[in-house]
Amino acid sequence: EKGGYDHFMLKEIYEQPRAIKDTYRGRLLADQGLIRMAGIDLNMEKFLNANRIIIVACGTSWHAGLVAEYIFEDLARIPVEVEYASEFRYRNPVITDKDVLIAISQSGETADTLAAIKLAKEKGAFVFGVCNVVGSSIARETDAGAYTHAGPEIGVASTKAFTTQITVLTLIALKLAKAKGVFSESKYHEYLTELENIPNKVEKSLQSNALIEIIADVYKDSTNCLYLGRGYNFPVALEGALKLKEISYIHAEGYPAAEMKHGPIALIDEHMPVFVIATKKGHYEKVVSNIQEIKSRKGKIIAIVTEGDEQVRDLADHVIEVPETLESLTPLLTTIPLQLLSYHIAVMRGCNVDQPRNLAKSVTVE
Ligand code: F6R
Repeated sequence: EKGGYDHFMLKEIYEQPRAIKDTYRGRLLADQGLIRMAGIDLNMEKFLNANRIIIVACGTSWHAGLVAEYIFEDLARIPVEVEYASEFRYRNPVITDKDVLIAISQSGETADTLAAIKLAKEKGAFVFGVCNVVGSSIARETDAGAYTHAGPEIGVASTKAFTTQITVLTLIALKLAKAKGVFSESKYHEYLTELENIPNKVEKSLQSNALIEIIADVYKDSTNCLYLGRGYNFPVALEGALKLKEISYIHAEGYPAAEMKHGPIALIDEHMPVFVIATKKGHYEKVVSNIQEIKSRKGKIIAIVTEGDEQVRDLADHVIEVPETLESLTPLLTTIPLQLLSYHIAVMRGCNVDQPRNLAKSVTVE
């Protein structure tokens, strides 16, 4: 049932082009210049009149929420707050009936996320769910929602759920941007066409697998790793670090690249691998100078770059290329090599990739 792959995680990483396509199928009608999502169409006024959108989630789904924060604010110009469900529910949050809460959950069973939804509903907020498991508790508890169509995710480490969550949230942001009139027709069209093309670019990103295996072999015995990114790729850095921690048991931290000089830079020496997302369209020159800072402290640099990049290639110890795309869609590509990297490192360290110690696929207790 692993479809010829050694582990579910690898199978699910490779399923992403299809999973993303399944998630936008019937919704993204690029040739008609249309996004069709009943859960949004029927509640458009709630979204357009919202004071703000509050996103609640845990773990990897929270990282998808962070990516969504950038997309919603950048494209649709709606203020967004992203909260850990476990913190949100216990801090007596200010919620009104002018708020829209979006809960993101692969399993749809996460106890803290479910509790956050109940709290928001009590306070009169409109609650929208982004779940993968059909008919799950969160899907039932929300006022409306949109499923990701990732298919069953068996590996405990979330992979295709993450990229399909981002896909759904991007569709929503684009729909709202269009409805608000903050997007020109041509810009809207450009986004639709590019999103439709993302599965092909994910497929291309997967072709770095052999190179990533070589890199994994170099760094598999590390005890610490840093992951850096800026803008849209800051949440990807967090997700890359989480993926490494949970399946390979190597300590890893994700940071916004510019925050490095406020502390973590003290950790950098010749034993510290630093994974940097340095794609052309996201504060590229700034990230390049961050890379120089790491290099001058002898840190090892493994960079995720845009195809054809030369500047970072000259500085880095290893580069992994992803195709060029619109800045807001880069997380869908830059995530892929980081998933593969943690997978290979975990396998090389003899870890139980699909069922890491101490973790459960669905966290139904707080
Ligand atoms: C990480 C991982 C967890 C989940 C988190 C939320 O790979 O799987 O961090 O993302 O437990 O789970 P869901 O999305 O089911 O609410």
